[in-house]
Amino acid sequence: MPQKVTPWKVEGDINYEKLVKEFGLGIVGKDLLKRIKKHTKELHPMLRRNVFFAHRDLKWILDEYDKGNKFFLYTGVGPSGPIHLGHLQVWTFVKWLQDKFNVELWFQFTDDEKFLFKDKSFEEIEKWTYENMLDIIALGFDAKKTHFLIDTKHADIMYKEAIKVAKKINFSMVKSSFGLTDQANIGQIFYTSMQAVPAFLPSVLKGKNIPCLIPHAVDQDPHFRLTRDIMPKIGRYKPASIQCSFLPPLSGSKGKMGNTNSNIAITLRDTPKEVENKIKKYAFSGGQQTLDEHRKKGGNPDIDVSFQYLKMLFEPDDKTLNTIEENYRSGALTTGELKNYTIEKINKFLAIHQKNLKKAEKQIPKFIEKN
Ligand code: TRP
Repeated sequence: MPQKVTPWKVEGDINYEKLVKEFGLGIVGKDLLKRIKKHTKELHPMLRRNVFFAHRDLKWILDEYDKGNKFFLYTGVGPSGPIHLGHLQVWTFVKWLQDKFNVELWFQFTDDEKFLFKDKSFEEIEKWTYENMLDIIALGFDAKKTHFLIDTKHADIMYKEAIKVAKKINFSMVKSSFGLTDQANIGQIFYTSMQAVPAFLPSVLKGKNIPCLIPHAVDQDPHFRLTRDIMPKIGRYKPASIQCSFLPPLSGSKGKMGNTNSNIAITLRDTPKEVENKIKKYAFSGGQQTLDEHRKKGGNPDIDVSFQYLKMLFEPDDKTLNTIEENYRSGALTTGELKNYTIEKINKFLAIHQKNLKKAEKQIPKFIEKN
């Protein structure tokens, strides 16, 4: 399958080098990592391991920060199903950035987007907006520095800004950026202007331009490429970004973890038994067919989904990860053992998360933007 990457479809084996060229992205190299480390003291595992590998204007964000001009963070969720490990990948990194740089975070809930793009009622989307808020709060974002924006609820402050963006975009730009056709509904055609708004709304509310950094998976880049083209035309800074590769679905390296099929995703609401079953039954293995063969030839961690989850999310310790990798390659570690270790790690995390969830509802009012 040829690779296809748009905000609404990720298909095929992803060739990241090709994406970097096609999209015109910068690479997060040694110099930038050094500059980040100067402020954060240590580097997040997803930076050390090249998971957040691409960027736009990150150097500028750090230059401004060095001058005392702080940025704010912007990320978001399309609320159409449970939160899964793919979301977690971006948001654990967002939380780390918020804590280390001590900055504000604007969190967009694109209920309009999911209503317009999915075959779901608005009532169902509203239910997911609420449920997703609970999970995001349970991840431990700082209520004093985090602002939830819900597109339909905050329409009073957002729509006025969205139309300023919309006026600078024509239908043919949307068609070529997103692959939308003449058959797209007219809400879909408008939508990208709503996703642009949080990149400059804090500047509107503060009455002065503030740099914006958007951590996101690389499929969202087309939105922000358009946003970046338009911002100078309405007197705003271009938002910067730092972008990660996709967390693989359980089924293997093609595409990304998503909500369309429960066999390919682990959600933050799964029970320990469900996690165990999913990993054992569905997690694509880089091991050999028989134990004998595995001991002889060894496994391939690069295509092994359990190993990738450890690398991206659940094994922050480099030494332990290296040992696992070596032992798996040599055949000393079996697929069964690797899976059991991964299950244990995921379930440990989920036990804490699910405990935090119980306290999340009461905190919702503290997170919703009051402007
Ligand atoms: N469109 C994203 C989704 O479908 C949600 C989103 C909105 C987002 N604003 C964002 C994601 C900013 C990353 C960064 O999930």
